[in-house]
Amino acid sequence: MEKNAIIYGQEFEYCFIEDKGYLELEVFKGPRLNPLSFDFSSQLYHHQQMNYSKHKEPLAKAMGFAKNPNPHIIDLTLGSAGDALILLSMGARVTGIEMNPVIFRLLENALERAQMSKEQSVKEMSSHLTIVHDHSMDFLEQTDETFDVAYLDPMFELSEKKSLPPKKMQIMRDLISHTPFFDAKIICLAKEHGVRRVVIKRPLKGKELFPGVVGTVKGKTVRYDIY
Ligand SMILES: C[S@@+](CC[C@H](N)C(=O)[O-])C[C@H]1O[C@@H](n2cnc3c(N)ncnc32)[C@H](O)[C@@H]1O
Repeated sequence: MEKNAIIYGQEFEYCFIEDKGYLELEVFKGPRLNPLSFDFSSQLYHHQQMNYSKHKEPLAKAMGFAKNPNPHIIDLTLGSAGDALILLSMGARVTGIEMNPVIFRLLENALERAQMSKEQSVKEMSSHLTIVHDHSMDFLEQTDETFDVAYLDPMFELSEKKSLPPKKMQIMRDLISHTPFFDAKIICLAKEHGVRRVVIKRPLKGKELFPGVVGTVKGKTVRYDIY
């Protein structure tokens, strides 16, 4: 991707801007929105201060932290790494796969900055994150690595009641489609790599993505289906 190239979303157009090593995606044609960038350092620091309970936090319960406090998790839909950063702060090692090249470039930049943080704990947590630009089915077909848990968070469809997603989600929604880029085979593929549980994030009242759910952990707004 060339530095000054125009990037086409589904509706809007964008360009990258970089200032002192900080990369942002700016809307070039479209609504007035704040540029999109990821800040792993402040998020990791925040999560660490929150000191989430591994016995109460729904994401931690779904991942099975109580039994394995330092799992190697493969996040097959990394996105802005929001969930991955929470998992890192809880003690996981995370390999995150992202297929979208624009989002991946923002992720790379955020990770580089976090790895140079003056905050030692942030530096350490970010050293436990590996990011890969690939399609997660292709990645699983090729890798020899093993993992304890696989995590999937496909983009939810917008509910009919809501006309627009929150502002900070509008760019993400314009760049990525809500159609899942994988099928049920991903569960078997993950299990061929040592994965003992696959966790899929769903809207609280949404349909199961695939049949075969063996357990569910409910949060306030989302649900984690376990396979
Ligand atoms: C809803 S977002 C994930 C959000 C993430 N859990 C977070 O907390 O920031 C879904 C992401 O998965 C990516 N994605 C979807 N299917 C994929 C696939 N098969 N391989 C790799 N990335 C995929 C999309 O490009 C998108 O960035």
